[in-house]
Amino acid sequence: MRRAIYPGSFDPVTNGHVDVITRAARLFDELIVAVAHNPRKICVFTPPERVGMIEIAVRGLDNVRAVHFDGLLVDLATRERASTLVRGLRAVSDFEFEFQMALMNRKLRPEIETIFLAPGEEFTYLSSGLVKEIAMLGGDIGGFVPPTVREALEARLSSLGR
Ligand code: PNS
Repeated sequence: MRRAIYPGSFDPVTNGHVDVITRAARLFDELIVAVAHNPRKICVFTPPERVGMIEIAVRGLDNVRAVHFDGLLVDLATRERASTLVRGLRAVSDFEFEFQMALMNRKLRPEIETIFLAPGEEFTYLSSGLVKEIAMLGGDIGGFVPPTVREALEARLSSLGR
């Protein structure tokens, strides 16, 4: 059983994430999309809310499941018996941080490999942060996120008075 983890904040999941999930799901028997609880990051959605939106977005991909986790990613990988971590690389600007994380995770747990997938080029400019900013400023995010995420984000921002 080849099992991989695709970790991230996913606040919220975008069409770019879904593209990477779809590509990774073809390479592994099981893909776990792991939503990190990062107390240092201010998120619009709670980890269970982010998991729920991912579950809706990946309906139809039978070998994908979503979880949220606290603590170290490599500990989750060990618990889940996953041998590989998957990250999307959009541009050279992502590389430094991603390379640092991959090497640190390797230092912590040498048997776990990180692989990088290039998303479709139409998603290279997309990020959860920009999607939130555009939504906050009244722009249309319809082309950037799944429909349920659009509704949830617009509802959340309006409840926050944004
Ligand atoms: O989507 P993001 O915010 O770029 O994802 C970053 C994430 C969640 C992959 C990273 O912060 C992480 O792995 N967090 C879990 C805690 C951990 O293992 N930290 C050490 C990383 S070397």
